Amino acid sequence: MPKRPLVIEIPALGTIDRTKGHIGQQLTDSLRKAISTGELKAGERLPSSRALADSLGVSRGTVTEAYEQLRAEGLLDTKASASTRVAAGLQEWDTPAQRTINQQTEQPPSLPTSASLYIAMADHLTPLPSVPFSVAVPRGEVAMDDHWRRLGNRIRTSPMAAPSGYTCPQGLLPLREALADYLRRARAVNCEAENIIITEGTQQGLYLASKVLLAPGDLAWAEDPAYPGLTAVLQDRGVQVSRIPVDTQGMNLASALETCPAARAAFVTPSHQYPLGMPMSMPRRLALIDWARQYDSWIVEDDYDSELRYTGQPFPAMQGLAPKRVIYLGTFSKVLAPSLRLGYIVVPGFLLKSFIGARSLLGRSSPLTEQHVVAAYMKEGYFDTHIRRIRAIYGERRQVLIDALQREIPELKVQPADQGMHIVVSLPEGQDDVAIASAASTAGISVRALSPMCSDNLQLSGLMLGFGGFTEAQLLSAVKKLRQVLK
Ligand SMILES: Cc1ncc(COP(=O)(O)O)c(C=O)c1O
Repeated sequence: MPKRPLVIEIPALGTIDRTKGHIGQQLTDSLRKAISTGELKAGERLPSSRALADSLGVSRGTVTEAYEQLRAEGLLDTKASASTRVAAGLQEWDTPAQRTINQQTEQPPSLPTSASLYIAMADHLTPLPSVPFSVAVPRGEVAMDDHWRRLGNRIRTSPMAAPSGYTCPQGLLPLREALADYLRRARAVNCEAENIIITEGTQQGLYLASKVLLAPGDLAWAEDPAYPGLTAVLQDRGVQVSRIPVDTQGMNLASALETCPAARAAFVTPSHQYPLGMPMSMPRRLALIDWARQYDSWIVEDDYDSELRYTGQPFPAMQGLAPKRVIYLGTFSKVLAPSLRLGYIVVPGFLLKSFIGARSLLGRSSPLTEQHVVAAYMKEGYFDTHIRRIRAIYGERRQVLIDALQREIPELKVQPADQGMHIVVSLPEGQDDVAIASAASTAGISVRALSPMCSDNLQLSGLMLGFGGFTEAQLLSAVKKLRQVLK
C-alpha cells in the first residue's frame, strides 16, 4: 500500500507561497515565526526533515538547510541521531502583549550622564547653516581650483585609489613628507615626516592629545574664552580645567602661576587666540615654555588658521621654540575645506608610538585617496598658490565687512585682530549675545555668541562673524539684516 503523505500541523507554514520563490527562506521565516509566537513551544519536537519535505513537496535539502539556519540562530536543538526540537528554555517573544510593550508603552532606559553631556556638545558643535556669517565655507572664488579637480580625477581613476587593505595609522608617507616640508618652511615647525601623524582634523588631534597626555582627574589649562570643541573634549575626558584669562598678549599666566601652577598641560592658540584673535606675544610664549619645563608639563598648540594673516607674514609656530614640549596641531579645514576631514599632529619622536596607538583606536586611519590628492596638490605647488590666492580674497572681504559694520552699526566694537576667517564684535553693555544669535538665525543669518565660550568668571558678550565664504554683496546685505536684528 502506498504511504499516505504526512500532514504537518504547523499553521505558520500555511503562509508559504510557492509562486514567490525562495522557498527555503520562506520556510525558515515561517518556522521562526511559529517559534516566536509560541505556536511551536520550547522543547517541542519538530517533524523529521524527510516528513516535512514530503508534506510541503520540497526537497529534503531545503528543510535541512532551514533547520540548520535556525539551529545556528539558537532556536533549535539538533542533536546527532536524535530528533530536532525547539531549543529548551526559549520564550515566545512575539506575543501580542509583548508587542504592545515594545512599541508603545515601554519606558526607555534612563539616560546616562555621559549621554546628557554629549547632547550639549552636539548643540555647540553642529555647524551653523551656511549663510553669512557662518565660518569656513569654501565656495565660489575661494573653493579649490581646477588643479584640485584634475589631480583628484587622475588619482581617483588610478590604482592608487583602488580599494586596499588597512593603511598605516600614521598616514600616507608622501603627504607627511609634503607637510614636513611645508611646516618647516611656512610655520617654523621643527619636524620630519616621521614626527607627523595624519588625523581627521584638529578636533581629533585635541582628543588624541588629551588621551595620550592626560589621565582623568589631571589638571589642564585652557584659555578663557576658548574653542568649545576643546573644553568639551577635556570635560569628556574627566580632566579638571583651569580657565586662564587672555589679554592683548594672549594667555596671561601670572594668576595661574600663583593659583594652579601644577597643571599637566596647557592648551593654547598662540598664533590667533580663539575666538578673540590676538597672537600670543614672544615674552608670554617664552614664559609658557619655562613653566612647562619647570613643571614637566606639555603645551598643546592649536594652529588652526594661522596661514591666513592679512598684514605681514604669519606668526611662527611655538613648536619651533620647544619641540620636545609642544604638541603641534594643524588642519586643512581652514585653508582647503572642513569636509575633507584631514589634519595633522606633530609630536616628538619619543611620543610617536603612543600617538599612533591612540590614533588607531579612533577610526584606525584617514581615507587614503584624499591623502593622495592633498599630497599631490602640495607637492606640485598648488597648495601654496591656493593659500596666497584665498588670503588676498579673504583680506578684501574682511575689510568690506569691517567697513560695513563701522558704517551701519557703529555701536559694535570690532576686536583688533588681523588673521583668520572670522572677526569678533563686542556688544554694547547689557545685550544678550545668545538671544541675539537666536534672533539672527530667525532673520536668516548665522552668528555665534561669545558668552558660551567663556568660563563662569568671565562675562563677555559678543558675536563671531565669519566672512570667508561670502561675496561682498552677501556680506553687505547680511550686515543690514544684523542691524535690524540689533534694533
Ligand atoms: C580653534 C579651533 N580648533 C580646532 C578646530 C577644529 O578644526 P577641524 O575641522 O580641523 O577639526 C576649530 C574649528 O573651527 C577651531 O576653530
